[in-house]
Amino acid sequence: MKDQYKNVSKGYDRIIEPMVRNLKIMGLEMSPVSKNTSVLDIGCGTGSLLKIYQKYTENISGIDVSLSMIRVARKKLNEKANLIVGSATKTEFKPHSFDLITCSLILHEVSDVIRIEILKEATRILQNNGRILLIDYHPGPIENFEGVYSKIVIRFFEFLAGGDHHKNYRHFIKNGGLPRVIEKAGLKIEKERITGGGNFGIFVLRK
Ligand SMILES: C[S@@+](CC[C@H](N)C(=O)[O-])C[C@H]1O[C@@H](n2cnc3c(N)ncnc32)[C@H](O)[C@@H]1O
Repeated sequence: MKDQYKNVSKGYDRIIEPMVRNLKIMGLEMSPVSKNTSVLDIGCGTGSLLKIYQKYTENISGIDVSLSMIRVARKKLNEKANLIVGSATKTEFKPHSFDLITCSLILHEVSDVIRIEILKEATRILQNNGRILLIDYHPGPIENFEGVYSKIVIRFFEFLAGGDHHKNYRHFIKNGGLPRVIEKAGLKIEKERITGGGNFGIFVLRK
């Protein structure tokens, strides 16, 4: 399979990460962990979310289809992080392996079928009393000037991504973003926060 992030991986932390870092901090506040919490980040990219969680727990894992993104993550996290190249639609993890599964800024870029497959797989490998943290774009309504500005920036970057990524993003936004996907996957919302002037949603879910 083609590595969609091959040309982006080296610049990702400089260009994209500063724009979305706050979302990850808010995610941590909404789904805190303790020393022994096992965390899996689905579509972990360059490992920035795991780096934040690594301050609180050493039991961290990540999975991503992009070898180039995983290479950046491996440099950022120490050897204790278990980082795997592969699709989150079908993993080799045993049922009930994780206390917390995070998934940041992936679901908008994959097809609707894959969105549900990823969440079904996350549900399978999640502890019965575990949590899922989702962070992604939100369809609005746009709340303020910050929201208008962010929307323009998001649309620009998603347009640049092109191809299926752009098509999937448009489908995601047009069809209700995370709340609809969460409902379709049969998960329950425990906490939610809409931020970025209405452009981002952060959801903590239970089975
Ligand atoms: C926009 S990046 C977000 C990276 C990171 N989660 C973050 O918030 O910075 C999306 C990531 O999802 C990964 N991805 C896309 N489809 C995937 C799949 N089916 N399984 C695992 N990772 C996937 C991509 O390779 C990419 O690294």
